[in-house]
Amino acid sequence: MKQPWWKSAVAYQIYPRSFKDSNGDGIGDIRGIIEKLDHLQELGIDVVWISPLYKSPMDDCGYDISDYYAIDPLFGTNEDMYELIDEAKKRGIKIIMDLVINHCSDEHEWFQKALADPNCEEAEYFYFRESKDGPPNNWRSMFGGSVWENVGGDRYYMHLFGKKQPDLNWENPKLREKLYENIRWWLDRGIAGFRVDAIVHIKKEESLASHPADGDDGMCGLQGWARNTPGINDFLAEMRDKAFTGYDAECMTVAEAPGVALEDLKYYVGDNGFFSMLFDFTYSEINFWGLGWENARMKEDIPTTELRDSIFKHMEDAQKVGWTAVYLENHDYSRSVNKYLPTGDQRDYHGVTMLATMYMNLRGTPFIYQGQEIGTTNYNFKSIDEVNDISTHNHWGNWTAAGLPMEQKMYGLQYSRDQNRIPMQWTAGENAGFTDGKAWLPINENHVDINVESQKNDDNSVLAYYKKLVKARKESVVSEALSLGDFEPALLEDGEIIAYKRIGEESKAFVINNYLKEDHKVTLPCDVKSVVVSNYDDVALDGRELTLKPYQAIVFEI
Ligand code: NOJ
Repeated sequence: MKQPWWKSAVAYQIYPRSFKDSNGDGIGDIRGIIEKLDHLQELGIDVVWISPLYKSPMDDCGYDISDYYAIDPLFGTNEDMYELIDEAKKRGIKIIMDLVINHCSDEHEWFQKALADPNCEEAEYFYFRESKDGPPNNWRSMFGGSVWENVGGDRYYMHLFGKKQPDLNWENPKLREKLYENIRWWLDRGIAGFRVDAIVHIKKEESLASHPADGDDGMCGLQGWARNTPGINDFLAEMRDKAFTGYDAECMTVAEAPGVALEDLKYYVGDNGFFSMLFDFTYSEINFWGLGWENARMKEDIPTTELRDSIFKHMEDAQKVGWTAVYLENHDYSRSVNKYLPTGDQRDYHGVTMLATMYMNLRGTPFIYQGQEIGTTNYNFKSIDEVNDISTHNHWGNWTAAGLPMEQKMYGLQYSRDQNRIPMQWTAGENAGFTDGKAWLPINENHVDINVESQKNDDNSVLAYYKKLVKARKESVVSEALSLGDFEPALLEDGEIIAYKRIGEESKAFVINNYLKEDHKVTLPCDVKSVVVSNYDDVALDGRELTLKPYQAIVFEI
């Protein structure tokens, strides 16, 4: 059966502000991306997701859109964007854009009209409510504080994220049509699809009622009434049919979709699902879910079995119904080598490449986040003043209000979303080769050692290893198994190993990762034929007895 192109694709995420600056203003831009397309081609990338480039006041760095049809001048022009699509195409790379349609910016003309005239059509595109005694309900925004903002008198509007990100009212059919029109407009310009932002929030419980508080602030989270709320499927099915369907090269859509119930997964990513794939959050937030950044766990406090089980659960759930995406990083997290490797091992070549092997061979479309391919580590933020991110500032304010000691606030600060927004490290030179001006965020001092230029011609670099992994997925004896094969957990009795099989129709692979920084003996569950990739030159195998070296990772043909 012919499989859609995106199942065997390798994806790469660009956070445009931090990728490459071409005009010296300290902020990355589209011409900078064009300059660096060769890097992506050499890595073997098929499709690039670019975080929002649209016109925006940049309160949430572009996730607050004021014009869905225009590129923000900070990043370039619409013509630059069309050129990027063409230049990428010449290199066999497709582009997907970010689709931010749960909310827009308060500077969007719809919202401006709605503010000026409560009776206009656009006022119905948002959630405006009247309330005499404070906010209309007790829902807590994703960035902290009430979801309601007063605009004078008794009138409030709802924003599940920042104040400058009013939520769009999906109950309004005219609004929905306008959003679909915009989606098709960009697809007609040659993009290959979208990463769909915050989409699980578009349906709100009709009553907008308060719910029991789950914190000292008297407020409640959003799950159930403004996240994965019954009725959402109707909107998603309509968007699939009216906006995403009908393109020759099947459009790729990846939903940011935390908390989707198991029984709903089939509607999301099953046959004729709402989306091609989704990002699951369980393993990516394993360090701070339910704890907050200020109490986040280091890898040494996260048993390998817990990490393995959470990844495997998503693999098995998704496999029952359809497809998914796999990733270690994005622009909302700190660096994966800090999150998933014990303290001190962030630059351990074997540790870093073991992580890469562990996730790049899972069943799903793998996403590499910019800088991950060279083993970029966290920056050490020295003060909140070095941070731009709106949500980190909100957290900091809440920690201060709650009287947290400075030490704990500084600990939490290291989990800031700005960790992954620190500029890309291209060279050992000034500003890491990112800009000729002053970068919008600090440059990590370790760019002198960790950078693309020095790794490019080094066969023993993290970058060279990522290239091998991408190649194994595309042109190796097990490429069909690694890209399309079934997922089957292995060696579950060994708590320090993450191992699995990929069973294709034409080939089979066995992937084993030693999460210990010491030698470790295992008995393989099957015979193996050849080594496809390993992060050590030798593989100490005797029959089925394998002695793994510290953080050794191997992909075998079986
Ligand atoms: C998820 C995006 O990844 C994040 O960066 C943004 O702040 C929120 N959605 C709101 O759009």
